[in-house]
Amino acid sequence: MTHAEDAPASSDLVVVANRLPFDLDDEGTWRRSPGGLVTALEPTLRARGGAWVGWPGTPDADPAAFSDDGLAIRPVPISADEVAAYYEGFANATLWPLYHDVVATPRFERDWWDAYRRVNERFADAAADAAAQGATVWVQDYQLQLVPHLLRERRPDLRIGFFLHIPFPPVELFAQLPWRDAVIEGLLGADVTGFQTEGSADNFRRAAVRLTAATAGDDPAHLTAPDGRTVTAGAHPISVDAAELDATAREPATAERAEALRHELGDPRTVLLGVDRLDYTKGIDVRLRAFAGTLADGRLDPTETVLIQVATPSRERVEHYAEMRDDIELAVGRINGEHASIGRPVIHYVHQPVPRDELVAFYRAADVMLVTPYRDGMNLVAKEYVSSRADGGGALVLSEFTGAADELAEGAFLVNPHDLDAVGDAIVAAASADPEERRRRMALLREQVLTHDVERWANGFLAALGVGA
Ligand code: ADP
Ligand code: F6P
Repeated sequence: MTHAEDAPASSDLVVVANRLPFDLDDEGTWRRSPGGLVTALEPTLRARGGAWVGWPGTPDADPAAFSDDGLAIRPVPISADEVAAYYEGFANATLWPLYHDVVATPRFERDWWDAYRRVNERFADAAADAAAQGATVWVQDYQLQLVPHLLRERRPDLRIGFFLHIPFPPVELFAQLPWRDAVIEGLLGADVTGFQTEGSADNFRRAAVRLTAATAGDDPAHLTAPDGRTVTAGAHPISVDAAELDATAREPATAERAEALRHELGDPRTVLLGVDRLDYTKGIDVRLRAFAGTLADGRLDPTETVLIQVATPSRERVEHYAEMRDDIELAVGRINGEHASIGRPVIHYVHQPVPRDELVAFYRAADVMLVTPYRDGMNLVAKEYVSSRADGGGALVLSEFTGAADELAEGAFLVNPHDLDAVGDAIVAAASADPEERRRRMALLREQVLTHDVERWANGFLAALGVGA
């Protein structure tokens, strides 16, 4: 990345997200940050010459603002205590489990909430500094739900959008949150609130009407906020840079790498693949258990089948994450112990980030992609896999509890991740479907993803905010 030292001028388009697109490591080197949000937004914002306001990813780091190849980077410092209370605590041990169907029990701690409010105020201050007069500010995700309202108080001249990358839960669950009214009030500070699915948008509208003085508008996508403003709440399903992935997948080097990879695995008949942040919502445990079941009952042959599970380290200081890492690694060891032979593991487990080109080669090498979350806002991995199958091959096993299932139900092998037998059946069906059927399904998937890419998502959201392409 090129690094211009001049402090950037104010911008007409500002993205505010918990993380910057790069994390500053302990040695002072900037590295690309993990996760779907950065992957989705960085190219769009860079192309528009905007500013990105976010945390540099290291506690107490306070680097100066700089320009990176047309993109203004504006770091917001967060202290070690705040990282523990705001990020690991309120964002990832309160909101994350609450918003993902309480698949783990959320903790409600007043100190965490206080830190969340304080850090949201700091982000609102930084966004107010970064935005030019009349600018558009696009706030991202559950870590910053108070920013729209706080920013409107500071800068009533701005157009403010908010997009939630994770699900918005049914009001029956959301109502558990002791600070629920303040969160809804924060979100209602936006002009446009966007969600991954109609289901989430509907949950938000119901919660706003049930829990605050907001009222439903004549148009079902509109709410009238307590201050009389109209707030739009609709579905804007996020996506990937499908054309770029498709082009990478078509490069001869990718096909060669995919072939070499299969060879390194011992030329098995079937390669299964999982790619996730190591997160308890992703259902990695489900797919491991279901896979083990198909080996145990003889439907898949351990000498002919290999599962690669790539699991990026994530939120390792949060208790549930540390516990689930132990559980997953125990399960991998156990399944290999029971079904592998010397030199031929049935599961290859990689607890590391993988470079982008290598990831596309993994996607191309995999006969069956396993995406089995208990709940996921969208799941970009599913869309990356589909985009990377320029050869028209491959099959997708997809949880019905992902946002992606709203768009990909027809071509995928859809499963309920709580039904272990059904997951096993879907793995076997996907692995043994005849090539014609697999190609038919993949064609349906590709038609959807290649015509609904990340650029369309960003342009669609920004158009709803009144910003032209
Ligand atoms: P989330 O936003 O919850 O992390 P998504 O599936 O929507 O889940 O997005 C995950 C993103 O992180 C994808 O772009 C995926 O390619 C990337 N990713 C996940 N695991 C790895 C890995 N081991 N190495 C590199 N990138 C990864
Ligand atoms: O999409 C959900 C999300 O939490 C994003 O906000 C974030 O960028 C990504 O997953 C990775 O999570 P984290 O920033 O906590 O490592």
